[in-house]
Amino acid sequence: MLEGYLQRKAAWEILLKVSSGMYSDLALEKVLSNYKFNSLDIAFITELSFGCIRYRKLLDYWTDHTSKLNHHKQPPKLRWLLHIGLYQILKMDKVPDSACISTSVEIAKKTELNKLSGVVNAILRNATRKLKSNNLPKLPKNQAERISLKESLPLWLINEMIAWFGIVETKKIAMSFNKKPKIDLRINSLKTTIRESLEIFQNNNIEVEPINNLINGMELKSKPRSIRKLPGYFEGKWLIQDRSSQWVAPLLRPKKGDKILDACAAPGTKTTHLAQLIKDEGQILATDRSDTRLKLLKENLERLDIKSVKTLKVDATKLIEIMPQYIDYFDKILIDAPCSGLGTLARNPDARWKITKETINQLITIQEKLLENIVPLLNKNGLLVYSTCTICPSENNLLIEKFLKKNKNLQLVFEKQILPNNDDLGDGFYAAIVSKKN
Ligand SMILES: C[S@@+](CC[C@H](N)C(=O)[O-])C[C@H]1O[C@@H](n2cnc3c(N)ncnc32)[C@H](O)[C@@H]1O
Repeated sequence: MLEGYLQRKAAWEILLKVSSGMYSDLALEKVLSNYKFNSLDIAFITELSFGCIRYRKLLDYWTDHTSKLNHHKQPPKLRWLLHIGLYQILKMDKVPDSACISTSVEIAKKTELNKLSGVVNAILRNATRKLKSNNLPKLPKNQAERISLKESLPLWLINEMIAWFGIVETKKIAMSFNKKPKIDLRINSLKTTIRESLEIFQNNNIEVEPINNLINGMELKSKPRSIRKLPGYFEGKWLIQDRSSQWVAPLLRPKKGDKILDACAAPGTKTTHLAQLIKDEGQILATDRSDTRLKLLKENLERLDIKSVKTLKVDATKLIEIMPQYIDYFDKILIDAPCSGLGTLARNPDARWKITKETINQLITIQEKLLENIVPLLNKNGLLVYSTCTICPSENNLLIEKFLKKNKNLQLVFEKQILPNNDDLGDGFYAAIVSKKN
């Protein structure tokens, strides 16, 4: 068997699963469970498969530049195998071209693509020749089309981003969507301190660094085989949470004794943060309409040993009817709304190919409904935070603006949008603090 054959085959299998609709992280986990790879192999497979998913548009363009048959007309399994070969040739400098080609040909030979192994060989060889002689596919003159192709993002999204932020920001954001996301952790201050955690990691030769301006945040620099197997995870001493998401819970200024509603709570990354901030002394009601996700929330509460949270499976827009006793009840409310996730495209390689303008419009309707129906549960001195992990203004500031125009008894206390255009900032996110007018 050729060296590196199994790693490439696993990456190809991940592409097959993702093309049939599975989320990329789930596909990675499923495929890896069938093999016994070490951490270096896993890093290679992740980079290759996630890279192919992100750069799908560019790789199709290269396929069309190097083969007689347009990518639309190729059998899907061949299309994804060509992507595996092409991505290595175009984006992985350290892999020799011969290894990129021979392993892809070998995969074709040993699978139902057997009769097409010659085609795989010819197309990939052609690609290396064209690359060496600088015979590159022509990029479109139109700026939006050019960015869309170079950064492999849907054209509709690039056009929207240019309208929202202008061309310079769009380029920066589009590039950031293809960078490897950082892995950030949040310390559970109910059980440990950042100092103790840093020490434990360092004693176990795991590289971590505190994150500027986040008292409980640290970045994991090492690339372990499984993050959950690192010291302290099962003891509930930390959890995984992106740095920008760690800004959200403190915006509510939670304090001991607060009555808090976390309306879209699962899997509980922010609920557990709220509990930490009130020192686990108070009442937090964590609601979510998804059973499966609530199960994860309960696991997190148990692992982090948090007692101040009650969970409830409910459509939060109905709380006002089902539990009228909660009208004017809560001191603090968090609506971490379901959103298009356009701030987290680096973290979710397949998301860019799934989101449409139509799904965004459907989400906006849900977001408006959540706000309308949950605000009456806030008491007169309370604070409500509305947050998302998207950069789409109609889900963020424009939505809040429209909502406040309709609800004259409310006011904007603060709002913040982070664009994922700078390596140190993490994912894109938005949050607004709203209160009742006195
Ligand atoms: C962005 S996620 C929340 C993430 C969570 N706050 C955290 O930090 O871990 C949005 C959540 O809203 C839930 N959701 C969507 N519509 C809802 C509704 N009408 N009522 C309650 N939960 C809802 C989804 O099931 C999903 O778990």
